[in-house]
Amino acid sequence: MNILPTSVKALPFLAVCVMAAASYPAIPQDRTTPVQQRLAVKGPNAWNTYQKLDQACVQYGTSSDALTSEACSTDSATYPTSRTYSNAVTLTGLTPATTYYYKIVSTNSSVEHFSSPRVAGDKTPFSMNAVIDMGVYGADGYTIQGDMSKRDTIPQIDPSLNHTTIGRLANTVDDYELIIHPGDFAYADDWFYKPKNLLDGKDAFQAILETFYNQLAPIAGRKPYMASPGNHEAACQEIPYTTGLCPDGQENFTDFMNRFGKMMPTAFTSTSSDNTAKVNANKAQALAKPPFWYSFEYGMIHVTMIDTETDFANAPDQPGGSAGLDSGPFGTATQQLDFLAADLASVDRSVTPWLVVAGHRPWYSTGSNRCAPCKAAFEPLLYKYGVDLAIFGHVHNSQRFLPVNDTKPDPKGMNDPKAPVYIVAGGAGNIEGLSGVGSNYSTNVFAYAEDFSYATVSFLSENEVKVEFIRSLTGEVLDSSVLYKSHGQQFVVQ
Ligand SMILES: *[C@@H]1O[C@H](CO)[C@@H](O)[C@H](O)[C@H]1NC(C)=O
Ligand SMILES: *[C@@H]1O[C@H](CO)[C@@H](O)[C@H](O)[C@H]1NC(C)=O
Ligand SMILES: *[C@@H]1O[C@H](CO)[C@@H](O)[C@H](O)[C@H]1NC(C)=O
Ligand SMILES: *[C@@H]1O[C@H](CO)[C@@H](O)[C@H](O)[C@H]1NC(C)=O
Ligand SMILES: *[C@@H]1O[C@H](CO)[C@@H](O)[C@H](O)[C@H]1NC(C)=O
Repeated sequence: MNILPTSVKALPFLAVCVMAAASYPAIPQDRTTPVQQRLAVKGPNAWNTYQKLDQACVQYGTSSDALTSEACSTDSATYPTSRTYSNAVTLTGLTPATTYYYKIVSTNSSVEHFSSPRVAGDKTPFSMNAVIDMGVYGADGYTIQGDMSKRDTIPQIDPSLNHTTIGRLANTVDDYELIIHPGDFAYADDWFYKPKNLLDGKDAFQAILETFYNQLAPIAGRKPYMASPGNHEAACQEIPYTTGLCPDGQENFTDFMNRFGKMMPTAFTSTSSDNTAKVNANKAQALAKPPFWYSFEYGMIHVTMIDTETDFANAPDQPGGSAGLDSGPFGTATQQLDFLAADLASVDRSVTPWLVVAGHRPWYSTGSNRCAPCKAAFEPLLYKYGVDLAIFGHVHNSQRFLPVNDTKPDPKGMNDPKAPVYIVAGGAGNIEGLSGVGSNYSTNVFAYAEDFSYATVSFLSENEVKVEFIRSLTGEVLDSSVLYKSHGQQFVVQ
């Protein structure tokens, strides 16, 4: 979300800020200690260290006392203003859907475990969580409750308040298999909300990133955590047209690329037996640009992650764009949309019956925050290729829409529609607070902005998917719906 008015509100605090500064986490004495651990589908295991590693290695195996395999990489990379190096290693030869134990090689690390991904075509039911607009908590973080009006109280918030969404995801870690997070992670660009940071923005931005990814490790280091970009990843601060003031290293999605660029999947071979599908899949993989746009398959789902920030006509974060964030492009002029068309066309519903697209900015939302250029660029392709579920955030609340194409409700409703179900799962929690649900929108059936929340998507069978919105604090189910799709057509083109 764009929060210019409140940044202006925060400025009067300037006077009281002289004493304090950025709240960096302590650097471990042993600088090989892995921090900010994170996993992804397709085998990568990534973490940061406070020194460059000559060799980043992970030992792994199916028993905790026999870590018989080892994978290494020599690519330990940093960027200007970062105190840490990002390391990523891809574990190969994994038996699907199996518990693996692993140890990041360090003089100060322990044995952890994760479950290897399901192969495409495995029809076992499972759940996936969608969290968007998360944000750090603590000294630089958010309020637990509240709407936009409560943002004025942020400087007085108890720093020890726990992040209710991360807490809930950690406590229910055995109930789901992966997490998607299309955009807006740490909110490092909101450093200026805290008066203590006002004279130390460069460090405050970095301190928030370090703290947030440490807070996320208990879930991102246990489950594949699939990322795509949001506006808060773009630059050191989101006040339009001041991005030019950001120091080198804090602009143009630098941390996002450094952190997730080596982790999100690139090429994978289509498991369809159809030759056209294989050709389309190969084309899509050649055009994919992880971590911005890419796809992956997991059990009975094909998930396509899109970039609603850059790389299409009138993209908001691109140079000259409406958000003034002067970022990208990351591909050639038509690369992202060519990727999307080829990728969606490649989906063989006899292998992966469910097709999910996820991105940051929605075009269906109550209130006024709808991304019209995103709708123009992406919606026709989502409809044409029969996307079942489309997941967005950016607006800080939870919303569900009936299947809809070009603002018109699908006549079949939830019973085998042609149009996608759209949801907004942007209420995970961040320093900007929740967005009121605003005015109704014709196809909206659920909207919630009382407390932080997220979505759990359960693929029950080849024909039924259940979407639940969960209140982070209590675990209460706020809304539950089941979409039925016959999935009778192997390749959908409509
Ligand atoms: C070892 O790691 C733990 C947590 O991962 C950290 O708290 C501790 O400070 C580290 N020890 C040293 C000597 O760096
Ligand atoms: C934060 O979480 C910890 C561990 O779950 C708990 O012991 C502590 O009481 C929580 N703190 C607050 C302020 O809720
Ligand atoms: C951002 O980085 C990409 C390459 O990663 C580059 O092509 C593009 O020109 C950069 N954009 C700006 C505004 O610097
Ligand atoms: C779906 O929406 C597109 C615009 O995105 C429109 O061109 C098309 O006619 C619509 N199809 C149906 C069946 O409503
Ligand atoms: C919006 O209006 C529709 C149609 O009147 C109604 O079914 C729906 O419940 C409303 N949504 C909310 C969140 O009130």
